[in-house]
Amino acid sequence: MERIFSGVQPSGNLTLGNYLGAIRNWVKLQDDYESIFCVVDMHAITVWQDPEELRRATREVAAGMLAAGVDPKKNILFNQSNVPAHAELGWVLNCVARLGWLNRMTQFKEKAGKHKENASCGLYVYPNLMAADILIYKATHVPVGDDQKQHLELARDIAQKFNNDFQKEVFPLPEPMIFGSATRVMSLRDGTKKMSKSDPSDYSRIAMTDDADTIAKKVRKAKTDPHPIPESVDGFEDRAEAKNLMNIYAALSDVTLADVCQQYGGQSFADFKKALTDLAVEKLSPISQEMQRYMADPAEVDAILKEGGERANAIAQPVMDEVKDVVGFLRP
Ligand code: TRP
Repeated sequence: MERIFSGVQPSGNLTLGNYLGAIRNWVKLQDDYESIFCVVDMHAITVWQDPEELRRATREVAAGMLAAGVDPKKNILFNQSNVPAHAELGWVLNCVARLGWLNRMTQFKEKAGKHKENASCGLYVYPNLMAADILIYKATHVPVGDDQKQHLELARDIAQKFNNDFQKEVFPLPEPMIFGSATRVMSLRDGTKKMSKSDPSDYSRIAMTDDADTIAKKVRKAKTDPHPIPESVDGFEDRAEAKNLMNIYAALSDVTLADVCQQYGGQSFADFKKALTDLAVEKLSPISQEMQRYMADPAEVDAILKEGGERANAIAQPVMDEVKDVVGFLRP
């Protein structure tokens, strides 16, 4: 049976980037795969999180998934820290992965910045925990955004080295599933930077909980350029902001970027922004309303996560036992 695992971090508010790049695709996959979706709270604390805010954000991410259409009966939806095997396998994989492999990870370099010595040890071994997330379920497919490709290649290397070191085919090598044009939604203020929950400017992102007025204001203020909309995809050179807005439109309406160029080519951005606002409000407001409903009822969200955690644990525990036996840990 083909099995999907994917995760979203509960840090800050969910953005349009999380929706178009991850959650929306999961909803499409849930009918064809056995799917395990995880709120990765243990990854979140690799940088400082306020405890109360972490709890809130964990529920919000779960609410976002549920509101977007993830079915918690058909799939497993849970938070990572509630299934101990992630941390247990994470430790074993810390001892499989090589320093040289982690030193190549571009996300660590970006996140640690100039003050590498001050970064948490967790931030450094973050990719090993991510490998554990996937391998503890022997997942075969992992839907991720573009920026996670390198981490997934590392997970494959770790799986391969583990199998090879112990001469047992314990882990299947997980396949990345990278999605179409809007897998990378960029900042509304700077089209070369990813749309991020942690950007200091609120105008750089659309949050999944933004109401219609807020969406309209943010789209209106989004950076563009003075040129008309290009008529083909060749017309985006040095126009990262223009491309980003049109990519968002394409993703929200489920057409290609080329289709959007054909439809709006030659028009002004003022007109296009109106169309984009209407489309974004139409697609997002039902989701944000449903999210508010879940957020107002944390007990319902917690019950769903609890049940998901129990089902996840039932899969993970026997795999952890198998790993212990293979590694040589005594289970008295
Ligand atoms: N690192 C991923 C991100 O920031 C989140 C994540 C953690 C993940 N574990 C995972 C994604 C396992 C896919 C599979 O987007």
